[in-house]
Order: sequence, then C-alpha cells, then structure tokens
Amino acid sequence: MGYDSKRIGIIGMGYVGLALAGVYGQSNYIYCLDINPHILTDIQNGTVKCAEPELEELLKIVHDKKKHIVQLSQTMSAKPREVVERADYIFVTVGTPSLENGEISLGHVWAVAETIGKELQYRTGWKTPYIILKSTVLPGTTRKFVNIIEKYSKKKEGEDFFVVYSPEFLREGRAVFDLKNPNKIVLGGRPYAVKHMQAFFEDFYKNTKDATSGTFFLTNYVNAEMIKYANNCFLASKISFINQIANICAKIPGADVNNIAMAIGLDHRISPQFLRAGLGFGGSCFTKDLEALANYGDKMGVSTDFLWEIDTVNLEQRELPLHIINNVFSDLKGKTIAVLGLTFKPNTDDVRDSPALQIVRLLLSYGATVTVYDPKAPDKALADVVVKYPGKIIRLPSAKYALKGADFAVICTEWEEFSRLEADDFMLLMESPYVFDGRRVLDPEKLIKAGVHYYGVGYGNSNAIPRTETSPFN
Ligand code: UDX
Repeated sequence: MGYDSKRIGIIGMGYVGLALAGVYGQSNYIYCLDINPHILTDIQNGTVKCAEPELEELLKIVHDKKKHIVQLSQTMSAKPREVVERADYIFVTVGTPSLENGEISLGHVWAVAETIGKELQYRTGWKTPYIILKSTVLPGTTRKFVNIIEKYSKKKEGEDFFVVYSPEFLREGRAVFDLKNPNKIVLGGRPYAVKHMQAFFEDFYKNTKDATSGTFFLTNYVNAEMIKYANNCFLASKISFINQIANICAKIPGADVNNIAMAIGLDHRISPQFLRAGLGFGGSCFTKDLEALANYGDKMGVSTDFLWEIDTVNLEQRELPLHIINNVFSDLKGKTIAVLGLTFKPNTDDVRDSPALQIVRLLLSYGATVTVYDPKAPDKALADVVVKYPGKIIRLPSAKYALKGADFAVICTEWEEFSRLEADDFMLLMESPYVFDGRRVLDPEKLIKAGVHYYGVGYGNSNAIPRTETSPFN
C-alpha cells in the first residue's frame, strides 16, 4: 500500500516550521502561515534562504512540485481560513521568546489559538482536524490553548477537533536530519488523539527514505510540556557540569578534561554526549528554557537554585578568555584581539545568546580593538557595537586576516576551518602569538612546540586558567 498524502498546515515559519515544510512537503500538501509576509513570499517563489543543511533544496523541491500539485501553488502563502479549512493536520511552531524577566512570552501562541478558533467555526467536511502544538510551552499552556480555540470556534476538543502537544527536539544546523531521525516522538493528549498521531508518524516514517521514527512516548499535556523543559535543562546541566570540571582540570598539570569526559561517558548512565567543555552554551533554547522553568518553579514556591546555577556557571564560562587576556596584558587599550567565530555553534548563522558576542562586547568595553571573522554570522549581529565603538571593531573575510597583527586570538565557535589553522598562522601573522582556544579545536602540543602561547579550556598545562574574585562583567 502506498503512502496517502496528507494536507498539512504549518503556522510559524521559523527554522522548525521551515524544516517541517521541507521534510513533510516531500510527500504531503503543505499550507504555510506566518505573520511575516516576506517569508511566505520566499516560500512561494522558491527562494527561501536558510543556513540549515539540505533545507533550501528540499523547500525548492516542494516549491517546484506546484507544477504538478495545483493545490500547493494556491496555498503556499495561504490565508488563515485556507489553512484551517483545508489542512487536516495543523502544526503550530510559533516562537515563545523570553521576556526581560526571563519568563516566556506566549503572545504568539494565544494569537494562533484565537485565529484557529475563529476560522475553525467555518470548517466543514467529514475529517476531524488535528492541531499539533510544537512551540516550547510551560505546563498548563496547551490546556489554555484548547480553551481559547473552543471559545472562538464554539466547537469541542475531542469531538470536533483534537489538540496534541508534541515538543520538538531538533537542533539548529541538524534540523533536517533530526526531523528525519528523531530519537523519540513525544505526544501529549487524549489517548485516542495521541494514538492517531502515532499512526500518522509511523506511516510517514515508514514511507520516507533515510528516515526512522525513534521511540514513541504517549502521555498527557502537562507531562509532554514538562518533558521538553526537563530535556533541555538536563542537557544544559551536562555542559555546565563539564565546564566546571574543565576549570578544575586546568589547574592540574597533566590533566585534560576531554579524557575525563570520554571515560565518564563510557558509563551508560552518563553517556558521552554533551560533555564537550568550552565557552558554554548559547542559542535560542537553553538559557531561555532554564530561566523559564526556574521562574515557573519559583512561582510555585519550589527551590530552583540548581537550575539558576546552571545558567550562572554558563555565564561565568564566557569570562574565561578575559581573565587570561587580563593576566597577559595589564591594559587592553592599544591591543588588538582577534575573535574567531560569532555564531553560537558551527553550521548556523544564528548568533542569539552567543558567547562570542558577549566576549566581543567585553573586549571593546576594556578598550581593545577587535578583529572578527565568522563565515556565516550576519553583519547586523555587530550593528550595535559598530555604532558604540566606531573604528574599534573590524569584520574581516578570513581567519587569517583577523589574526594579522593581533596581539591575542580567541576561538569562540568550533567552525571546522579553525581546526585547520597551523602554528605558523599564529607565529607569522600575529603581533604576539597568544591564543585562547575556547572550543578546543586546535592541537595544543603542536602549537606549544612551535612557540605559540596556547590556552585551552580544561587543559592542565603550564598555562592553567587563573580565576579572579571579581567578574569582568558588571
Ligand atoms: C538545543 C537542543 O539540543 C534541541 O534539542 C532543542 O530543540 C533546541 O535547543 P540547539 O540550540 O540547536 O539545540 O543547539 P545544540 O546543538 O544543542 O547546542 C547548544 C549549545 O551548547 C551550543 O552553543 C553548543 O556549542 C553548546 N554545547 C553543546 C557545548 O558547549 N558542549 C556540548 O557538549 C554540547
């Protein structure tokens, strides 16, 4: 039996929504919706630009299919009514950004619930629509989401439509791969609805090349909501944990945190994943989720010290290069520091909450001139500091250009190309060959042998990392 194409609506075309459109769109009809008309125009024209590997090509294929699938051409920039009327499965992937106080903003989620509700009242036909909320939301949110849809549609969840909460675990830069190969698919909702969605995914994965569904985990709304937060906070805790171990290792001659991480990772109860010591985590999820969960727990009167501490350790980790640089040079005025990497991790152009940006700001505030290289970060990432420190921050087209004439180099992102830098690049290009390898991409032995002053996170060589009492971040 062949695969039956489904009519899938996607509301919120960020990287998760686009990934769903690209992957599900290979075998289904896709109806996209977003408040940003530009992204819809790009989807409609087949000109979406995004840093996710494979995704542009997949979206192009979905776009080109409109020649064969008339429905698709009419609906790639669908209006809400079209989406709610036509799609039998509506995925909601709108953002839940942080507010100033660390709590999450649910404005987009409520707006979508209202829109779906208002349009649902006009939906006719015999198929019962499924609405799958994927945005990261705190326990209790999906229930309210349902209430809003019921209020505006005057229809009943469980009879006229179903809502399932299914958190998304895909990583930026791996969105297509992760979507095709999830470890698990968590489905929260009524037993009938979650079983129906399990069948939907089983059918999809069985019929999709290079894809496997992983384990299904069926539960209720609040557990599914909590699973997403616990998952991300636990991963963040592993990183902060290994970074503290790294800082201790840096004080022990002969120690190397990677050795320790590898060995403890052999214990199946621990696993070797997410034990890469470095400058800590950034990105759109971990800090946001930690703060949201900690705030939520605080409001419930529960002690959340551990969650807050993960965040604090992470922020402190960004100070490491500054402690070293301040130790080497008594004054940063007149010094040029090369910063290699701006994105929060490689293979993305995302600089949200990137440790690199914080390090750049700090260096500038100390009076240094900063030369920067990153292969993908957008120029606008530096817009505010360019205005605040005119002439003091210079973006260059390669790592070698950034190193030229610099007094100290800091590697902030593990872009693969940085691992190919040779001792000579530091020895010959720099004014003085000092490097802080914030992501452990270089070979310290080779560099030290060649005369480079090498500092790396978690290496207990003679360049042990000094800690000071006062934070350079005010
Ligand atoms: C994360 C979660 O992994 C994903 O499941 C969720 O859906 C969204 O948030 P992402 O933000 O894309 O994904 O990045 P991830 O690859 O998890 O890395 C997050 C940060 O942690 C990066 O800054 C990375 O450099 C850092 N990191 C990761 C470490 O410092 N050490 C590690 O061992 C792993």
